Amino acid sequence: MRYSTRVLDGGSDQAVSQAAALLCAGEPVVIPTETVYGLAADALDERVVARIFEVKGRPADNPLIVHIARLEELDALTGELPGGAIKLAKKFWPGPLTMILPKSGAVPEIVTAGLDTVAVRMPSHPVALALIRTAGRVLAAPSANLSGRPSPTTADHCFEDLNGLVPLILDGGPCDVGVESTVVDLTGDIPRILRPGAVTPAQIKAELGSVVIDPAVCNQPDPSLPVASPGVKHTHYRPKAEVVVLSGRWENCERFLAGQRRDGVWGLVFEQEMQSCPIPALSLGPRESAQAHAKLLFLRLRQLDDMGAKLIYARPPEQDGIGLAVYNRLIRAAGFNEMTIDG
Ligand code: TXA
Ligand code: MG
Repeated sequence: MRYSTRVLDGGSDQAVSQAAALLCAGEPVVIPTETVYGLAADALDERVVARIFEVKGRPADNPLIVHIARLEELDALTGELPGGAIKLAKKFWPGPLTMILPKSGAVPEIVTAGLDTVAVRMPSHPVALALIRTAGRVLAAPSANLSGRPSPTTADHCFEDLNGLVPLILDGGPCDVGVESTVVDLTGDIPRILRPGAVTPAQIKAELGSVVIDPAVCNQPDPSLPVASPGVKHTHYRPKAEVVVLSGRWENCERFLAGQRRDGVWGLVFEQEMQSCPIPALSLGPRESAQAHAKLLFLRLRQLDDMGAKLIYARPPEQDGIGLAVYNRLIRAAGFNEMTIDG
């Protein structure tokens, strides 16, 4: 189906009502959340969920997150809740945390890609919450990019990828966080982080006493082993340009980059490195601000594409706190291509 895609200010009640009417009529709508924009549809309507997979070109074995606006909405979606679920919900919802929980029979198989678990989160963006409440539906929403591309953090990015493919984009401004929610699996003995985000492993450990980080978070998946989260084995976050993660002391990288001056070769470096960078570059924000890196990463990858970059050398953030989330997205954008310049 082709649409003439409209972009409306999500701050207007009228726009939210129009979006709710579309959702209730079985249409998809792009919505802002505090993490990234989502391509939303009634989670309990298999037909429209199937269209979401189609629109994004998303592999059918990659399950979706169901977005709710009230804690009571969990009951209908889930089976018996693991001990820590309500604790985490009370602490971090609404906010950038997704919990993997046993699923109920009400959730269509297509949403969970046939798994017996369901991913649920309560976003904190006021437009997302208002829409879920007005529509009276829980919403399945993957990030609103074409599958494999950097996730969208502005309404413009969504338009770039989905113009003509959805009837409506609600503009809620640039996303606060900039990377997707933390995904934590609560169905095993120990809470397991499948995807890092703004809610950090330390914060989850402080609530539940223990946490493990799935090895797939920072390592290339071994094709011979089963994966905990189906999403990790697919290509993700890739701009059109090739990305290489460039680690090591900046002085060494500077010397290396001086030998890389060619058309289409760009840097994505920390603010402090901009001045001395021997190739054209965009800033990922101050070295010490992982929050800035999170907010800027996807935006910069899209900007570098627009500027005609063919090859991007990107500096990696520290792998702790929200920096772990940024590093996780960056090494995937780079297809796990990381170079360390030692001397
Ligand atoms: O911040 C976010 O989470 C954004 C906004 C729109 O809410 N959504 C998002 O959705 O990032 P998506 O579809 O791009 O990523 C969902 C992730 C995938 O890695 C998927 O494999 C995982 O959640 N996931 C979903 N259901 C799962 C399940 N039952 N078990 C394990 N992983 C699951
Ligand atoms: Mg995504």
